[in-house]
Amino acid sequence: MRNKKSQFKKSSEFYNLIYKNKDSYSEAIYIDNFIKRFKPNTDHILELGCGTGRHLQEMLKLGYKVKGIDISAEMLQMIPKLEGLELECTNIVDFQSDKKFNVITALFHVVSYINDIDSLDSLFCNTKSNLSDGGLFIFDVWFTPAVMSIEPSIRVLEINNENYEITRIATPKIDYINNLVEVNYKFFIFDKNLNSNETFEEKHLMRHFSITEIDAIAKKHGFQNLVNEEWLTGKFPSNKTWGVVFVYKNG
Ligand SMILES: C[S@@+](CC[C@H](N)C(=O)[O-])C[C@H]1O[C@@H](n2cnc3c(N)ncnc32)[C@H](O)[C@@H]1O
Repeated sequence: MRNKKSQFKKSSEFYNLIYKNKDSYSEAIYIDNFIKRFKPNTDHILELGCGTGRHLQEMLKLGYKVKGIDISAEMLQMIPKLEGLELECTNIVDFQSDKKFNVITALFHVVSYINDIDSLDSLFCNTKSNLSDGGLFIFDVWFTPAVMSIEPSIRVLEINNENYEITRIATPKIDYINNLVEVNYKFFIFDKNLNSNETFEEKHLMRHFSITEIDAIAKKHGFQNLVNEEWLTGKFPSNKTWGVVFVYKNG
């Protein structure tokens, strides 16, 4: 098995707070619509890079049985124990399941964390063999035309609630040759209850992709393209579209 470290070791505790404005319910309905359209009668879903389980918990409420896998034990620990929900701490690149799933998802840029071609190849190969015939692989990635045209810049996020004051500074370093962006996150946390400060840093290496690149690797592994569109809006991807969603059918 490939040895890859989790980038979310320290920030996992604050992940749900940082992304509290994400509408996980609407995102789950968006995925559910693809499932109803292309693979009705799906009962069992696998989510790759499930993180703190925000989609898993919504999919469970929609009536699916769900399994989530993630390389970060700290992220998985944030998920409450729920009936019908199975979790495993493992690398999605190497994951081989003993049962087949009708649908496999990787949501909120998880595939952009897989930034070398051998790992990507292995991810598609294993995902294909973990899917039933006609099963769906649904994922979103950072989209090269948008990354090149918008260009990542320094961003500051501030959160202030009854427990914490959090400042997160994201500083990107763009590698134009290899389609990579290294994002250095610096966190400043003030815990109001303990009256204590903490500072830590994390590096996230992100790969962006064109549609033709993703399509070439998917076709090589015997997937058939059903959808490429802007995440949630369904618009045709443009140089303003940071996240593009792909739906592929196995076979
Ligand atoms: C941006 S978070 C998305 C989490 C979740 N899908 C969501 O929508 O909130 C990316 C997740 O992918 C996981 N991840 C990145 N590389 C991975 C790998 N090779 N194997 C398993 N999980 C991975 C990280 O640990 C993290 O939980």
